Amino acid sequence: MMMKFGILYCIVLNMIPLVTGESGYFWHITDFHYDYTYHGRQLSCNPNDKPDNPGKFGDFWCDSPWLLIDSSVKAMSRIKPNADFILWTGDTILHGKDADLSYEMNAVMLQNTTDVLRNVLPNVPVYATYGNHDYWPNNQFPPHNNLLYNDTWIRWEDWVNDPSQEDNFRKGGYYTIKTQHGLRIVALNTNLYYTSNTAILNETDPADQLQWLNTTLYNAKMNRDKVLVTAHIPFGVHTPSNLIWMHEKYHTPLVNILRGYTDIIVGMHFGHDHSDGFKVLHSSDGQHAAPVFMAPSVTPWRYIIPNKIGPAHNPGIRLVEYDRTTGQHKDLKQYYLDLNKANKDGVANWTLEYTFSDIYDTSALTGDTINAVVEEMKQSTNGQKLNKFWKHFTVSPPEDLQEPCNDECRRSIVCGFKHYEMRTFKTCKSDMISGSTSIFATWNICITVLGLIHVCVYFFV
Ligand SMILES: *[C@@H]1O[C@H](CO)[C@@H](O)[C@H](O)[C@H]1NC(C)=O
Ligand SMILES: *[C@@H]1O[C@H](CO)[C@@H](O)[C@H](O)[C@H]1NC(C)=O
Ligand SMILES: *[C@@H]1O[C@H](CO)[C@@H](O)[C@H](O)[C@H]1NC(C)=O
Ligand SMILES: *[C@@H]1O[C@H](CO)[C@@H](O)[C@H](O)[C@H]1NC(C)=O
Ligand SMILES: *[C@@H]1O[C@H](CO)[C@@H](O)[C@H](O)[C@H]1NC(C)=O
Ligand SMILES: [Zn+2]
Ligand SMILES: [Zn+2]
Repeated sequence: MMMKFGILYCIVLNMIPLVTGESGYFWHITDFHYDYTYHGRQLSCNPNDKPDNPGKFGDFWCDSPWLLIDSSVKAMSRIKPNADFILWTGDTILHGKDADLSYEMNAVMLQNTTDVLRNVLPNVPVYATYGNHDYWPNNQFPPHNNLLYNDTWIRWEDWVNDPSQEDNFRKGGYYTIKTQHGLRIVALNTNLYYTSNTAILNETDPADQLQWLNTTLYNAKMNRDKVLVTAHIPFGVHTPSNLIWMHEKYHTPLVNILRGYTDIIVGMHFGHDHSDGFKVLHSSDGQHAAPVFMAPSVTPWRYIIPNKIGPAHNPGIRLVEYDRTTGQHKDLKQYYLDLNKANKDGVANWTLEYTFSDIYDTSALTGDTINAVVEEMKQSTNGQKLNKFWKHFTVSPPEDLQEPCNDECRRSIVCGFKHYEMRTFKTCKSDMISGSTSIFATWNICITVLGLIHVCVYFFV
């Protein structure tokens, strides 16, 4: 047997923000998937595993009962009631067949979830976006004005709190506002690009959103704004399932526009995956980088598609600490509900799952610091950080339900951190196979000196 031995050094200077202001906090909550039939017909539950005696707070085979949603919002108010704002990235409706749902039924679920956020956190503005399930029929967001956009404008108007945004909201469900501390929020309706949406197939720019985004980011740069992007469906390659959620003809220009503004984008926050993840997007010249975050869902529902059963995952809610002056993200706390324990105890004790800086040794959550984390994981593919990433990917599920991440899965995750086109993603994965002996480090050690310089040494045997 051939043995190779090598050492690789990696030194990263943690970027220190030039101006530091006081910290603010915002919540990110997503994918409630409210099953109002949870205690009855169980419309969302996997037909083969409908629970006979479903737990009070939910079941891994079903979407959220009302008590789970209510407890998640109350947990936000208990843990950090005075956050600056909340990002709410949609998918409020259960996973159900179109025939079992209706515009009117969806409207009740959208209204009741809007109401619980408003009532429990009355002084915190919510910057909300739609999920693909919020339309009826499922996924079919049209590229023009319709009843859902109009009705939602009335529900969310005082959160948006800017009449100049009414026209593009009624046209495509997107908007931009400035928060009280000056951070520019760009809220997109990426369901217009979803591969399951057939209502937009003949378009070139559904609801003119891409053009609007391009102009909005250009103006933001001219005004020296810092920008936070939020939407339901994320761009990039979903890993480890190796797919892009969007039609390529919309995905490519979307990614290109965003790459052009990675110097002013402080963070991008998405839902839809139901799992926990992050990535880094670089400008085309590689000079700037912006961090991308996927927050796990409130629903614990496991998907079933041909040949694959989704992993079990606990419900999650996310708190981000950021600098109010620069918008720069500083840290992230993921809270979760141990679903089995909550059902057993009869109380929903939402607790801290992890703090980003503790796990990944970061001093900030900028594109550069995330890039450093990603590089470290790449050099040390069987290392601890990827194991932690994988455990949190499904929100620390019960041990007996945790699935292994094999070699293919690890290469997929590592390549998905930075590759946004299927072609370069696949090349990255195959390069890792051909160079496997030099890419999978067997052992590594990293130290941070004075909280500034991060040095790693990797051994390849
Ligand atoms: C919505 O809220 C109303 C008022 O509290 C309640 O009567 C109704 O049952 C709720 N519907 C659903 C589907 O949660
Ligand atoms: C939505 O509202 C706009 C402006 O108020 C109106 O012109 C349009 O007809 C409405 N569309 C639908 C489908 O109700
Ligand atoms: C797209 O164009 C084709 C061919 O003209 C037409 O048959 C189809 O109905 C159109 N689809 C939509 C959603 O407009
Ligand atoms: C964005 O705007 C720039 C000019 O500022 C233009 O060159 C580019 O083609 C636009 N991109 C899209 C996708 O509209
Ligand atoms: C909730 O969980 C925390 C952390 O595990 C624990 O310290 C606390 O006692 C729990 N509270 C209740 C009411 O169970
Ligand atoms: Zn969802
Ligand atoms: Zn979704």
